[in-house]
Amino acid sequence: MDIQKLIQQMTLEEKASLLSGGDFWHTKAVERLGIPAFMVSDGPHGLRKQEEKADHLGVNDSIRAVCFPAACATAASFDRDALRTLGEALGDTCQHENVSVILGPAVNIKRSPLCGRNFEYFSEDPYLAGEMATAIISGIQSRNVGTSIKHFAANSQEHRRMSSDAVIDERTLREIYLPAFENAIRNAQPWTVMCSYNRVNGEYASENRHLLTEILRDAWNFEGFVVSDWGAVSDRVAALDAGLDLEMPSSGGSNDARIVRAVREGKLDEAVVDRAVSRILRVFYRYLENRKPDTEWDMAAQHELARKLACECMILLKNDMHTLPLKAGEKIAVIGEFAKKPRYQGGGSSHINSFRVDSLMDALSGMNNISYAQGYSTEQDDPDDALIQEAVSLAKQSDKVVVVAGLPDSFESEGYDRTHMRLPKCQNELITRVASACANTIVVLYNGSPVEMPWIGRVRAVLEAYLAGQAVGSATRDILYGQVSPSGRLPESFPYHLEDTSAFLSYGGEGDRAVYAEGVFVGYRYYDKKRIDVLFPFGYGLSYTSFAYSDLVLDRESMRDDEDLHVSVNVTNTGDVPGKEVVQLYVADRESSVFRPVRELRGFEKVFLNPGETRTVSFTLGKRAFAYWDTTLHDWYVESGSFAVQIGRSSREIVLEKEVEVESTTVRHDPITVNTIMMDLMRNPEAAAKLKPVLDSLQGTFEGEQESSDAAQEAVSSEMAAAMMKYMPLRGLVSFSDGKLTYDSLKKMLSDLGLS
Ligand code: GLC
Repeated sequence: MDIQKLIQQMTLEEKASLLSGGDFWHTKAVERLGIPAFMVSDGPHGLRKQEEKADHLGVNDSIRAVCFPAACATAASFDRDALRTLGEALGDTCQHENVSVILGPAVNIKRSPLCGRNFEYFSEDPYLAGEMATAIISGIQSRNVGTSIKHFAANSQEHRRMSSDAVIDERTLREIYLPAFENAIRNAQPWTVMCSYNRVNGEYASENRHLLTEILRDAWNFEGFVVSDWGAVSDRVAALDAGLDLEMPSSGGSNDARIVRAVREGKLDEAVVDRAVSRILRVFYRYLENRKPDTEWDMAAQHELARKLACECMILLKNDMHTLPLKAGEKIAVIGEFAKKPRYQGGGSSHINSFRVDSLMDALSGMNNISYAQGYSTEQDDPDDALIQEAVSLAKQSDKVVVVAGLPDSFESEGYDRTHMRLPKCQNELITRVASACANTIVVLYNGSPVEMPWIGRVRAVLEAYLAGQAVGSATRDILYGQVSPSGRLPESFPYHLEDTSAFLSYGGEGDRAVYAEGVFVGYRYYDKKRIDVLFPFGYGLSYTSFAYSDLVLDRESMRDDEDLHVSVNVTNTGDVPGKEVVQLYVADRESSVFRPVRELRGFEKVFLNPGETRTVSFTLGKRAFAYWDTTLHDWYVESGSFAVQIGRSSREIVLEKEVEVESTTVRHDPITVNTIMMDLMRNPEAAAKLKPVLDSLQGTFEGEQESSDAAQEAVSSEMAAAMMKYMPLRGLVSFSDGKLTYDSLKKMLSDLGLS
């Protein structure tokens, strides 16, 4: 389709009409020109497509579909291929259902475990989140269906999400809250970006030019269109001008009219309207001209995929005395309402109308020696003593007990945040009392975000399943009975207590002002820096086998920051069953002039190994692996110095490391002024050389006339004298030059030397 020609034929009113929805899920058509309406739908964990006549809130029943594991779980797979495969399945689904763009993935960073929507987000680490997003976007768009990476940006709390202002310093924004978007946009080019509801540094994301144009377009070369979150637009004309192309769902035409009026009154350049229309139509016609309406949607096959994916995601957190895997013939008590009615997805816009759900009890139905007790009700928080008694007596008669626990829907959801990290009281009480009745107690958790585990010392094993999708029961069975060895790793830290979290003192904000006071120290970046013990660290996870590492090799010991470093390491399965290991690569800046985390994840690879098998895993590290965001350069900057390349089983367990010297190729100096202190001057060799003659000429004036007395030396020690010198601003020389140097002559000299 010749989009430009189409636009030339349009009236201003027709153009404006294309910049907002026709209803909750469709864009408007322009019949006169044969432009159809296009449908978009949620994601990101399956297709939430509403029957044709959606209600005006977009919440009535959606069609039956396949609910895959939520992002909190899929990130735990640390498996790019798995996410791509998931994306391909979602893309097929959308082709079959004629949905042009699926609204996801959601990549907001998990600033606090309290965020109600953490289940829908990948990680506390921007690199992992970005890699997962890139993979799933590539998969979906390989089927010529668009994605909408969201919510751009800094939607890290649900509390007052439509009005709250995320106040974030420049470096933190660029290093923590934007890189997942940047990675996906640079490497997968999502067809659309969805702006968030909240404000960022005082401006609504929907009209934030710095975000939507200066960063998204000018810096990252984003080519698609920007769509608002549903109802996120405040000033439509300002938003359009800032870079927000499509308003959803609809303003009933009122905002279209405002756009027309603004152009007519000369307040908005019609070229801005044309640009937005062009971006939108390019995306939708790309979909339309490559439609594959005969794409099959094999739900049963996708259910099987959901099960396999869930197995890749589950994380074995504890397994004392090899309590797991369970063995056929063991008398097993399965306790917990979630074993019959599992929580396998989150609430809100991502909620899928699953065509089928496997509970654990369904999956165990063919097996002998399995008994069940409800243990608790998800409808109440307080313990039900009768239910607990029943469970305890069953536990006493069993070889092992599997308690299936987790967070009920009401504890976490889109739209509101958690107020604590506890499981329901009834579940904690149940687990404690069952563990007293049977030493071989295993806890399986269905939760979308970290929970406190006061009973951790009383149980033998813990399997974190997160929200594992509709096949959760069969996947849980496969892991518990060892058909699959668990290979998930935590994509977020599990702190002992909420008070340990870095955002504890400011999370949620005061009124509409949420200051991200912890800066870059989010998640493991905080716990590792402060050496705060955590229940389970980022990247942690056990297997039914074991792995050993050897032969870490860097292809150079020193490099420039515009070169690549090639890293390889051997990993061996030292156990007696097959398994998958997630090899994690961290980089630690040994010294820096800015505050940096102890280490940051810069690579990961998941490898399958048979017993005794060894594989060599390779990584390539470029500049960004060593860089931080410099707020004077407003760019990524590598400070020359020593870095450690570390191989870890988690952010807390480094098994091998080697140093590399990196030399910066960026000359970065602050301007030299009369207020520049001597220490900083000396760090600028060019400036120091230019000023050397002057400093030499003044040298004599700083030495005392005679040996200073003991009393004088006590007053001004040599250390203090040295410190006074290095922190002395150049203008200070005037005061101690015995008249040789004046303020004006110093300023003129700096100017003549081209230093300021
Ligand atoms: C919701 C969500 C967004 C979703 C959209 C459409 O408010 O924030 O993620 O895609 O509206 O349902």
